[in-house]
Amino acid sequence: MKLVFLGPPGAGKGTLAAKAVELLQIPHISTGAIFRTAIANKTPLGLKVKEIIDAGRLVDDETTIALVRERLAEPDAQKGYILDGFPRTIAQAEALEGFSKIDRVVNFDIPDAAVIERLSGRRVCKNCGANYHILFSKPKKDGICDLCGGELYTRDDDKPEAIQKRLEVYRAQTAPLIDYYRKKGLLVDVDARPAVDQVIINFRQVLKV
Ligand code: AP5
Ligand code: MG
Repeated sequence: MKLVFLGPPGAGKGTLAAKAVELLQIPHISTGAIFRTAIANKTPLGLKVKEIIDAGRLVDDETTIALVRERLAEPDAQKGYILDGFPRTIAQAEALEGFSKIDRVVNFDIPDAAVIERLSGRRVCKNCGANYHILFSKPKKDGICDLCGGELYTRDDDKPEAIQKRLEVYRAQTAPLIDYYRKKGLLVDVDARPAVDQVIINFRQVLKV
């Protein structure tokens, strides 16, 4: 199954994807996570995109499309994938059609107030990228990842100014993809407001998996 996860920042795309990969046995491909790894490793790509991402703006289409095209050509992505955070512009969606045929687009439905609450309390593992929340998804030990023992940190783009910018960018550049994919008959809506376990149930019902 070739899936795209679409939705505002903080909707829970990464959290649900981490659960869905176990269920569907397909790789989770997050462009944001690929960029963050590049930044942490100070690669040429990381150095190029760090400032843009910290400010909550979008990396240019050309760079992002090339990255995804390369990633989807790898053997593990042939039987399916969850693309999380790509496409984010109409140009990216059109480019994707040229190199892969997606089955469904899962639209995470959630109001801004919930997004802000989720992002301002998010903590991420420096080592494995697992997501936590200081109220909704606490690690067993404060500041330490349950899965790998790594240190938890707050993403630079989870500061209030960057959250606002990301929401603006989402509305202007990414939200038009909802209609774009609805018209193509590929869109399914998932109510992303409830707790994680219920969102998983909603997802399974909508996709019949
Ligand atoms: P990216 O990493 O994709 O960030 P994003 O879209 O802003 O989404 P987030 O990762 O912030 O949110 P999420 O929906 O995954 O939520 P999560 O599961 O963590 O992109 C980062 C940046 O990279 C972009 O701003 C851009 O600069 C660049 N970029 C990436 N892709 C690009 C592209 N295609 N083109 C150009 N630039 C690109 O959950 C959030 C919090 O809520 C967590 O703390 C979690 O524990 C909690 N939570 C999750 N679900 C629930 C729930 N049901 N109930 C309660 N709490 C919950
Ligand atoms: Mg994410």
